[in-house]
Amino acid sequence: MVFSQLKDVFETLQSDIPNWPITPCVRVEEIQSYLRSRYDFTQALPLDQVVSDVEKMLRSWQVQITHPRYFGLFNPSVTFASVLADTLAAMYNPQLAAWRTSPAANEIERHTLSWLSAKFGMPLHASATFTSGGAEANLSAVVVALTRAFPEYGEEGLHRLGGCPTIYLTRESHHSFNKIAHITGLGRRALRTVATDYNLKMDPADLSTQVTQDRQNGFLPFMVTGTAGTTAAGAIDPLRDLSTICRRENLWFHVDAAWGGAAVISPLLKIHLAGIETADSITCDAHKWFSVPMGAGMFFCRHADVVAEAFRADAPYMPRKMAGPVNDPYTSSVQWSRRFIGLKLFLALARYGESGYAGMIEHQTKMGDVLRESLQKAGWRIVNRTPLPLVCFTREGLDTSAFLAELQSRQIAWMSEVRIGGDTPALRACITSFRTTEADIDWVVSEMSRLAA
Ligand SMILES: Cc1ncc(COP(=O)(O)O)c(C=O)c1O
Repeated sequence: MVFSQLKDVFETLQSDIPNWPITPCVRVEEIQSYLRSRYDFTQALPLDQVVSDVEKMLRSWQVQITHPRYFGLFNPSVTFASVLADTLAAMYNPQLAAWRTSPAANEIERHTLSWLSAKFGMPLHASATFTSGGAEANLSAVVVALTRAFPEYGEEGLHRLGGCPTIYLTRESHHSFNKIAHITGLGRRALRTVATDYNLKMDPADLSTQVTQDRQNGFLPFMVTGTAGTTAAGAIDPLRDLSTICRRENLWFHVDAAWGGAAVISPLLKIHLAGIETADSITCDAHKWFSVPMGAGMFFCRHADVVAEAFRADAPYMPRKMAGPVNDPYTSSVQWSRRFIGLKLFLALARYGESGYAGMIEHQTKMGDVLRESLQKAGWRIVNRTPLPLVCFTREGLDTSAFLAELQSRQIAWMSEVRIGGDTPALRACITSFRTTEADIDWVVSEMSRLAA
C-alpha cells in the first residue's frame, strides 16, 4: 500500500538527516537563477523528475528543522502519523467551513479539541477551533474579548466607544499582538507594557497600577495577556495572580500558551501552567510542542456565545444554522474555507496515545535540563530561568553574532540570538526535537566550549 512506501521514505529521511548539514550555504540569486533556468512552465515535466528536484532543493537549501541538533525557534520534528495525516487531508480535501460538507472531519476535530479543552480545564461547552497558527488564535482572542467588553464594537466599530481600549502584556509577549492591535483598529499604542521581574515574568503589582491609572485617565482596559512559555526565554507569567486581577478588574484573561501549552498533558509538567484553567481564552499551537507539521494552531474560549457573536456571518449562499447542537465552524473562526488541520493532531494522538505524547514532551524537557547543566559545567552563564527546555546563555566577552555564525558554518548546531530583557545579547537554544539525545547535547557543548576557548 502506498502509505508503507511513504513510511519508508520518511524513515530513510529521518535516519539520514543527522548526517546532513543543518544550515544551508546559499545566496538568493543562486536559487532564483536555478528556478528560472529549469521552470518556465512552458512545457509539462514528468512528476518524478520534479519531485526529486524539489527534494534536492529542500535538502540543500533549508535549515533542517527536524535535525536533532536544530535548537532553534519552536519548530518541531514531526511524527510519521502527523505527516500521513497531512497527506490524507490533502488527498480527500474536505472543506471544514460547514458541518454538512464534512461531518467526519468536523467531528474528528471536535473530538480532538474536546480532549485538549478538558485538559486545560475549560468547561464542557467551551468553544475550540483549529487555526492557521498562534497569531490567528491570538487575533481571535482580541476580537472576542473586544466583543464581550464592548457589545457595540461589532456593529459600530471602535470609534464609537468614547475612549481607547487597552491591552496589558509584557515586552516578552509575542509580537503578533502588535500586528493585531494594528489590524483590529485598536492601534499599536493600545498595548500597555507591564514591567517584568528578574525572571521576565509579568509583575502583577505593576499590572494593577497601570490598569488603575489608565482608568483614571479615561482609557478602557479590557484584556490581559499572560504568556505560558515566552518566545525569547520560555518564561511563564504568574497565571494565578493575573487571573485574580482580571476577575477583580473585570478584564478578559487570555493565556498565550502557543508553545508551553502542550505541557498540560504531562502529569509532571502541568503544575507549571497552574492558573491556566481560569483563562477566558487560550492559544496553543499543535505545530510547536505537539510535533505536527505547520500550520496547526488552536483557539479555546470558555464563552462560546461571545465567539459566535464575534464571528457570526450570514450570506445567501451559506447553509442556515443547523438544528441541534452542531455549529458550522465558519461561525466560530476568522476563516471560511478551511483545511482539515486537526487530523494531524488526531492521528498522532491516536497513534502514540496520551502517555506516549507526554513521554515525548518530558524527554525534551529532560534534554533541556541536560543542556543547562552541561553548559554550566563547561563555564557558560545561564541568563534565563524556566522549567521548559529553553536555555539562554553566554560567557564573558562573547561576540554572540560571530560565534553563532561559526557554530552554523561548522554545522555544530542551529541556535539563535536573543536579547534578554531587551538588551543583553545571548545565545538561545530550545530543544524542539523528540529525537535529540544526551549524546547530541554532550557533543554540541564540547564543540561550543572548544570554539569559545
Ligand atoms: C508565545 C507565542 N505566541 C504566538 C506565536 C505565534 O504563533 P504562530 O507562529 O503559530 O502564528 C508564537 C510563535 O512562535 C509564540 O512563540
